[in-house]
Amino acid sequence: VTATAAPLVALRFDPAANALLALDQRRLPHEERVLELSDAAQVADAIRKLAIRGAPLIGVAAAYGVALQLAREPGSLDATCALLRGARPTAVNLSYAVDRVRAAASRAPSPAEAALHEARAIHHEEEAASDAIASHGAGLLSNARRLMTHCNTGALAAPGRGTALAVIAELFDRGTLESAVATETRPLLQGARLTVYELAKLGIPHELTVDSAAAGLIAGGAVDAVVVGCDRVAANGDVANKVGTYALALAARAAGIPFVVAGPTSTIDSSCPDGRSIKIEEREPEEVLRVGGTVLAPEGTACRNPAFDVTPASYVTALVTERGVAQPVDRESVAALR
Ligand code: MRU
Repeated sequence: VTATAAPLVALRFDPAANALLALDQRRLPHEERVLELSDAAQVADAIRKLAIRGAPLIGVAAAYGVALQLAREPGSLDATCALLRGARPTAVNLSYAVDRVRAAASRAPSPAEAALHEARAIHHEEEAASDAIASHGAGLLSNARRLMTHCNTGALAAPGRGTALAVIAELFDRGTLESAVATETRPLLQGARLTVYELAKLGIPHELTVDSAAAGLIAGGAVDAVVVGCDRVAANGDVANKVGTYALALAARAAGIPFVVAGPTSTIDSSCPDGRSIKIEEREPEEVLRVGGTVLAPEGTACRNPAFDVTPASYVTALVTERGVAQPVDRESVAALR
């Protein structure tokens, strides 16, 4: 079922339809189309195919997915949680949210109601977190006039204003930001398609660049800092985020500019000791071999398509969360946040 979406409401639970309404991010920026998802299999499919994406947003979607399925099939808690948890491996927000809903449902007399209540609670918490992240991040980066960001970390990636893009938007609202540089973010172009779409809607001056130009632009002094989101932060502060993030961190270190990571504490995985323990999603070769319908390389070419990479904590200047800023980023400062 499709309809025209209200701008930048990435996800909404509709109690009348008992359905999750999600802006189909595969179609942006060309078309604002809403998916109506009414069971866990549909939600898992939308997450797997990146119709719904961004670490906090997939957690919230999966939480509603458990509630939707329990309303249809009360005895399905274990299977439903396994299905949704397995939709994507890297962002810890997915298992964090599913486990919370599962715990709430398994001890309640009415599991479906309890699951929906918990999903709504997570949704509201993530919304509030994004405002606090924006404020803490803007305080930290108050002297940065020109910022570079990677992938998409705005209202399309998290409930509310987002994470790194929320910091950029807050600096713009405070009148100190001159411009943002968005990296294209191959292979699926979240920067070109989604971040540019959000920056334009927010009226923030911006430029788009290809990923391979980023290090040279940083070295040449084109930006004052780099700010990105995160999909899983290990206990020692190592950060998994969209592939290409590590290269930006290396370039920022070489140029002597801050490399800041922003995300809610739901993205911190204290059970994961360091970056080597983070499972990195490998996606289909088709995503590398084609852009849109255009074939880029000979058919059958072998591809590597990791969707994320790990930036060691020592390259991260600061970790901005809703509970405050960890700086330097290490085991102690991360533990203090969680
Ligand atoms: O594969 P995606 O588009 O879900 O990857 C998203 C990212 O890597 C974001 O930077 C991350 O989830 C932080 S979003 C607030």
